[in-house]
Formats: sequence, C-alpha cells, structure tokens
Amino acid sequence: MDYFSSAFADETIRDLAKERGRFIGTILNSEWFNDAIEPEFEEIHKTQFNVVVAENEMKFDATEPSENKFNYAKGDKMVEYAQANGLRVRGHALAWHSQVPGWVNNYSGQKEKLLSVLKNHIDSVVGHWKGKVAEWDVVNEAINDDYNHDWRSTGSVWYEGIGPEFLDSAFVWAHAADPNAELCYNDYAVEWGINEGSKAGFVLEQVKRWKANGIPITCVGTQTHIEIAHETTPQNVRAFAKALAELDVKLNITELDIGFPKGSAGKLTAADYEKQGHLYRQFMDVFLEEPNMGEFVIWGLTDAHSWLDEQQGKTEGLLYDKQYKPKPAFDSIMVSLKAHPASEVKSPYPDSVLIQQATKFVAVTSKLSAQITGRILSIAGATAAKVDVFDMQGRPVFSAKNVKKAVELSGLSEGLFVVRVRDGSKRLMQRITIK
Ligand code: XIL
Repeated sequence: MDYFSSAFADETIRDLAKERGRFIGTILNSEWFNDAIEPEFEEIHKTQFNVVVAENEMKFDATEPSENKFNYAKGDKMVEYAQANGLRVRGHALAWHSQVPGWVNNYSGQKEKLLSVLKNHIDSVVGHWKGKVAEWDVVNEAINDDYNHDWRSTGSVWYEGIGPEFLDSAFVWAHAADPNAELCYNDYAVEWGINEGSKAGFVLEQVKRWKANGIPITCVGTQTHIEIAHETTPQNVRAFAKALAELDVKLNITELDIGFPKGSAGKLTAADYEKQGHLYRQFMDVFLEEPNMGEFVIWGLTDAHSWLDEQQGKTEGLLYDKQYKPKPAFDSIMVSLKAHPASEVKSPYPDSVLIQQATKFVAVTSKLSAQITGRILSIAGATAAKVDVFDMQGRPVFSAKNVKKAVELSGLSEGLFVVRVRDGSKRLMQRITIK
C-alpha cells in the first residue's frame, strides 16, 4: 500500500465553491453591520460564502416605499460590502405579490397604470445596480398555491390588474435595464417534483413558452424551504435541473433551509442533526453534479436569526447553531465539496463571470495545517485536535481525540476518504486517497 501525500491548510466553503466555479451563500440584512448583530456573523459570512442576497432590502417596499421615490441606501450598503469582499450579489425580488407598498395596491385593477409602475420600478432598480447585481429574481411566487396548474390569480396586484403578461413584460424590461444580468423565475414547492399537475411542471411549460417567444429568462430558482421529513426532495431537484437543462436554463437553489418542527427545540438529538446534515449533503451532491446549477443559497446563517422561528413555526434549519458553532450540516457540505473535486465539477458560468469574483483573499484567522505521509497525519497549529475520517458516503471510519502533533490513521481500507481536523474553532478538511 502507498498513500496519497499532501499538505493542506484550513479551508472554507467559499474557497471550495470558488475552485468549482460555483456560488454558495446566505442572506444578509444591512442593519446587521456595525455590531447590530454578534460580530461572528460578518466574520463567518464573508469568510465562508461567495454569494449574498438581501433578505428584505431589495424588495419593492424597501426600494420604492413611495411612488417614484427610490431608497437604495440599505441595498447599496450590502452591495458595497459584497464588492469589498468579492461576493456575487443576487437581487431579490422585482415582481412579487408580497411586500408591495400600499401605494401600489391603491392602483389595484388599473392595468395601464400598473404596467407603468412595474416598468418604472424595474428600469430604476435594475438600472441602479446594473453591473453590480449579477442576477435578479424577476418574478417571485407567481404560481397558484392550490396546485391547479395555474397562475396565482388572487392576492396579487400584478396578476389581477395586468394578467399573466406581467411576467413576460417584467423579463423584457429587466433585460433591457441590464442585458448582462441573469434573470430568474423563483418559487417555492417547485422542489416537490415534476409530476402531472405539479408546480414544477407548470414552470417547465412556461419556460418552454418563454424560450420559444424570446423572453430572456436564464434561470429558475427553487426556494427549498423544507423540513427534515422531506427525504426525496434532493432527487426531485435533480430531475427538475435535468429538465431545465434541456431548455438551456439554469436551476439555482435560492432559499434553502431544512427546519425541525418548532416543538422539537431543546429535544433534538445528535442523530437528528446528522439526519439534517445528510439532507444538506444530498442537496450539495445534486448541486455539484448537475452542470446547469450555479448558486446554492441558504436562507440564513445562524439558527439565532432565522425567519423559521419568527414566521414559520419551524426551528434550527441552518448550518450554524445559535452560538455560531458549525453543525453537522456544515461538515456535510464540506464533505460533499471534497468528494466532488474541482476537476469533476462543471461551472455553468463563462470565465468572464468567474473572474469577477474576489481575487482578494479574506484572511482566515486559523493557522491549522496538516500533512499526510504514509499513514501518519501530522498536524501543525493544534493544541488538542479531534481528527475524524469519513468515507465518501460521509460515514465516520476513524476518530481520534487530543491529537497534538501526529496520529496514525489505522484501520482504513483502500480508497478515498475525507479527513477533518478540529481544534477549538479552527478546522480543516481534505480528501485523501489510500491506495
Ligand atoms: C421572508 C424574510 O425572510 C422575512 O424577513 C420577511 O418578513 C418575509 O419574507 N420566500 C421569499 C423570501 O421569496 O423573500 C421570504 O423572505 C421567504 C419566502
């Protein structure tokens, strides 16, 4: 037997995503800057991710609170932060029935007026961030909740006043305002499969029609606010990605969270968190294996700040716990990235898009590094490290505690493995081959 030999240093999701020509990220609120939130937030956010979305601050009510009076201050703050740290910006959302200010609803039923309001909004907002926001959710959640294979016909000022052509027009206007931006249709429950009568099936019909009519759609977003019980969802997302690939359209995961029922707070076991991690890993596997997937966005960073608890009767759906400690879900994502080396992952983006990403390296405070020679894993920068080795399915196959300088990885068979070293808040992961 001989062993793969390599030296490796502390790595981040961000580094691994970048190497693979993909974007992995979470949301932000500009009010969270300047110590309005725990300082760990910003540090982790810019270190671990390479795409950012405003949770609320680019929505209609935030950007045009009164007619033709635009407020870009908060969104600008986020864009500046993204530029300073080399993050891609997703814009969310232009035409949506929710978070629309009262003055728009006052024009309810007035088709011509609503068309000009929507056009002016899209021209102004997309124009303001032209070249800075890489991708827009042009239309959000326009499909009916009743699964009757139709548009949302009630409770939407746009649909009720304009009819379904508000969608087509919105894409055309957004494209005119920034011809280089990716333009998405975004919705929830499209991750439930492409069966007869499904929401995803309806999306596919519309995308076909849009493409045939020259409507400039380039991507679909699947929000993917799911629960721990939804075990088949990753495979549904894979099927949806493949169907969209045939139409030359990308699929992005745009708002992922995998929540537990709120009542389970405080009662969750290690096995529950492992199960959550396993689902996260399956989504990441699908994401990396499907060549028309570009972005993987999680709707929050820490369980301390999540719309799940505030609005959804769910809890603990994110990668970091309330103390900002990475959960098994974080490790699962790292393991998946490691199991899909850059040479095997295709990027759906041209080089011109990828090089816009940070060349600026965000300093990582940790100095942990390790090297494998034969069977001996030598570690530098650790005081008492925990070493874990996983097989390619993410199952633990070796574990050692209190490692100061070196440990022998005994008992491993031939093949590929992922080594994880943790020492306090420092961590690193690396794929190794044992021949
Ligand atoms: C949510 C935000 O997280 C909340 O802060 C806000 O009060 C309501 O909207 N689908 C979407 C997102 O497209 O914009 C929603 O965000 C979550 C569901």
